[in-house]
Amino acid sequence: MIQRDETLKTRVVAPAAESAEFSQFEQTLRPKSITDYIGQKEIKRNLTVFIEAAKKRKEPLEHVLLHGPAGLGKTTLAYIIANEMGAAVKITSGPAMERQGDLASILTNLAQGDVLFIDEIHRLRPVVEEVLYSAMEDFAIDIMLGKGPSARAVRLNLPRFTLIGATTKVSMLSSPLRDRFGNVFKFNFYDIDDIKKIALRSAKILDCEIEEAAAQRLAECSRQTPRIANRLLRRVRDFAQYHNAKVVGEKVVDQTMESLGIDALGLDGMDRDILRTMIEKFRGGPVGLNTISSALSEEEETLEDVYEPYLIQLGFLERTPRGRMVTGHGYNHLGIEDSRNQQRNLIN
Ligand SMILES: Nc1ncnc2c1ncn2[C@@H]1O[C@H](COP(=O)(O)OP(=O)(O)OP(=O)(O)O)[C@@H](O)[C@H]1O
Ligand SMILES: [Mg+2]
Repeated sequence: MIQRDETLKTRVVAPAAESAEFSQFEQTLRPKSITDYIGQKEIKRNLTVFIEAAKKRKEPLEHVLLHGPAGLGKTTLAYIIANEMGAAVKITSGPAMERQGDLASILTNLAQGDVLFIDEIHRLRPVVEEVLYSAMEDFAIDIMLGKGPSARAVRLNLPRFTLIGATTKVSMLSSPLRDRFGNVFKFNFYDIDDIKKIALRSAKILDCEIEEAAAQRLAECSRQTPRIANRLLRRVRDFAQYHNAKVVGEKVVDQTMESLGIDALGLDGMDRDILRTMIEKFRGGPVGLNTISSALSEEEETLEDVYEPYLIQLGFLERTPRGRMVTGHGYNHLGIEDSRNQQRNLIN
């Protein structure tokens, strides 16, 4: 089995964040204000209203839940919200808190108006999550003092704070938790124009001159995901430097993509393997995730989180109650004839 982390590190078009070096690079490219944040228009429009209204009332913003596939800008937006509110941010993540006390100590150290950012909030342990309910709703937590028969609960009041939760798996959130968020924002994949703008903005910050047409090509290969656009830009820049090209043109982008095995839609070898295996071994499906997983020696979770969202977004793959299916578009992209059509014709 290929380990999940390994896959994410070695795969250029993986939407998940990777090494420390890369996260440093991500930091420098992260927009700091809502006006620099490209795309996601609907989220920005609503958020601007909520932020301005909260500021006028001189109240903290209601709790915010940000959900959607990896690399679309949830963490970036969380920082921007705090920044726009003029609030300090404390950061933690679901799996980082093992005991109730871990969360309680973070909560009791918050100041009025602070933002608490909990990444991967779907991975909170149920006992820890329970503490969050009263903290979010009543701005108070109940702590048990002592042990055994003499134990008693003491209620501690908390300052009013804003919780920002981020998750790639909103369906795994319990409904009591989800219901306590006043603002819920769903992230969608970006359109190519916005990805192009992000690539051009990043190129400028990195002092990398890139032609308009080259930025367009790069955007088309970026899986509609800002993190991947930035990562591919870095590879393209390396390529240009190696070949002593002062300006990145379309040809450099094409060469880079070719050497990375990334096709015109941003699919890499593994994406194509998934589709091809489903077609050749399972007649395009429906086939269960666990079967695909063993056929490809790839973890189910990785298939589901890393590969599927974009294949589904492209309309190449469908999740049905009976399993995964390759669509006609998926067959077309691989240049394989959809034999299911012939069968259908025979029946008719
Ligand atoms: N709207 C945007 N405009 C410009 N750059 C963006 C935008 N959204 C994301 N980025 C860039 O993409 C990178 C990845 O974004 P971010 O880390 O916020 O994604 P995420 O949704 O939190 O991912 P994950 O689910 O893996 O935590 C950021 O470093 C930032 O440079
Ligand atoms: Mg994040």
